[in-house]
Amino acid sequence: MPKITVITREGESRDVEAEDGLTLMEVIRDNGFDELLALCGGCCSCATCHVHVDPAYKEKVGEMGDDEDDLLESSDHRNEDSRLSCQIDVSDALEGLTVTIAAED
Ligand code: FES
Repeated sequence: MPKITVITREGESRDVEAEDGLTLMEVIRDNGFDELLALCGGCCSCATCHVHVDPAYKEKVGEMGDDEDDLLESSDHRNEDSRLSCQIDVSDALEGLTVTIAAED
């Protein structure tokens, strides 16, 4: 169960325990961060689970798929740290990760 720090759009941060087997989106949502809408439920079709991940964890969060890449193109707030949190699987490799919820499009 890695510990992950979530930073909200308002800049508040909170540490959460992330359960292995969930996606990062599920961890954020299940810990009450309502601003992460995740409207499609994790099937990579809405981009409302957009987050910015600590660049130091770029390899640990895994490679971005083509569908995710295409979907992020629709965001005005995409940067090189952008990911869709529903496409990141929680594992112990994420211990200490900081993730920031992206601005709303
Ligand atoms: S929850 Fe819709 S793309 Fe991630």
